[in-house]
Amino acid sequence: MKVYTYSNRDQMPLMGLGTWKSNDGEAYRAVREAIRIGYRHLDCASRYENEAEIGQALGDAFAEGDVEREQLWVTSKLWNNAHYPDDVRPALVQTLTDLRLDYLDLYLMHWPVAIRPGMLMPASGNDLLSLDIVPLSSTWQAMEACCREGLVRHIGLSNFSISKTRDILTTCQIRPENMQVESHPFMQQEELLSFCQRQGLSFTAYSPLGSQDRPPRVRGVDEPVLLEHTLIRQVAQESGLTPGQVLIAWAITRGTSVIPKSANPERLRQNFAAASVTLHPDHMALLHGLERGFRYVSGSLWTVPDSPYSFDSLWS
Ligand code: A2P
Repeated sequence: MKVYTYSNRDQMPLMGLGTWKSNDGEAYRAVREAIRIGYRHLDCASRYENEAEIGQALGDAFAEGDVEREQLWVTSKLWNNAHYPDDVRPALVQTLTDLRLDYLDLYLMHWPVAIRPGMLMPASGNDLLSLDIVPLSSTWQAMEACCREGLVRHIGLSNFSISKTRDILTTCQIRPENMQVESHPFMQQEELLSFCQRQGLSFTAYSPLGSQDRPPRVRGVDEPVLLEHTLIRQVAQESGLTPGQVLIAWAITRGTSVIPKSANPERLRQNFAAASVTLHPDHMALLHGLERGFRYVSGSLWTVPDSPYSFDSLWS
């Protein structure tokens, strides 16, 4: 398994299991099966509302000797409603309690967006707090304190732009070490990826398969279907892979981490196998041509009327 080696020599397997959209009962089975298959990197978040179930799966996997804690890389994320500095540690402790762990390998700020404490999602723009009210740097300082305390080994960012990351880099005491963003051939994130490489941040690609199982409220009409694109099918056929495997191998061949979600044993296996595949340079060049700056996860939830956030301010 290819890994990313951090400056303290910790190793993150590039291939991880995504758990967003793994629902009741599904997450437990997916995690148990994935660990049996050989996955050693789990991507979680409190917002996915399945951390307690994943904790049960981890507890059972450890008890039955499937894997040891030290062999796993576990990531989780701070939800937007806990950005006030005093709320960060309690949110992390809840995640640790749910996951039945005493430390995380990586803790990310899920979005550069703050929601009023107590609200899970904004019912209106008034439930969103501007970054002037809750500066990202103040949330980051509280995450640094969790890192110093040993509750997390590494901290990082998700859905951040280059400019917002630069702001953190100039004010931080502990540097962000990972950037998790949507990335696939329609949204390759070339500029952000090379920025991360220069700045020493590892890069994790989410929604690598185009997340067709997203809830209807965040799905656009007439979205392009990544897994059905002719060129991806062609590369799949020519390489003896499935379209899903092509997308995973594309991310791994670029040297990024990738976290496809599956709750299906057969697809879990085929996805894991794809992490050992290096695509031919000709195929990489073909896929490079598919860039179209298209996001499946647009951030529309944060740009409701009266919100302090716009698409422009969110992604720039
Ligand atoms: P399932 O959980 O039934 O396997 P993303 O990782 O981009 O969020 O995409 C997840 C979606 O892709 C889920 O609907 C998942 O369904 C599906 N999926 C996972 N692996 C594959 C694969 N190898 N081929 C096709 N679809 C897949």
